[in-house]
Amino acid sequence: MPGSRLSLAIAAALLVAPVGAEQATISPGATVKQIHELMITPASNALFAVESEAPRDDVGWNHVRDSALLLGESAKLLMTRGRAKDAGDWMTLARALLGSARSAATAAAKRNVDALASVNGEIVATCEGCHETYRDNGRSMSR
Ligand code: HEC
Repeated sequence: MPGSRLSLAIAAALLVAPVGAEQATISPGATVKQIHELMITPASNALFAVESEAPRDDVGWNHVRDSALLLGESAKLLMTRGRAKDAGDWMTLARALLGSARSAATAAAKRNVDALASVNGEIVATCEGCHETYRDNGRSMSR
């Protein structure tokens, strides 16, 4: 029956339709936990490490800048359908992480340790803000 085929097509389209304008239509492979293990944790650790020991050369600074870019991309992955827990606070927090990661990339490109330290503060607040609601009821993260 053409009608049911049409509703199947509509149902299929809805399955891949974005919830919010920023959500990609690609179905996710890695879980939120895996994205943390592969990208978010190592990338943010590289940014946080600058406060205790600033990079000494181009290679070191490039790694910090690349980590900031990776962190930004990971924030986008958190916004994809299937990973985003809702279209509200989750998206706001992931967008905040993306914005801070961009600032961190700029600070790293300028080799500005103070600016990076201040962006790191924003990043930690965002990580904890999301975990408070969506992970562990506010247990503080160890840095
Ligand atoms: C938009 C929400 C969100 C943001 C932003 C976020 N996280 Fe998470 N994080 C989660 C959720 C949800 C989990 C639980 C994943 C699971 O176990 O399924 C988690 C888990 C973790 C874990 C445990 C992962 C594991 O191996 O089990 C660590 C560590 C972590 N986050 C660190 C961070 C850091 C550092 C940041 C900031 C740079 C961050 N997170 C930003 C939502 C978020």
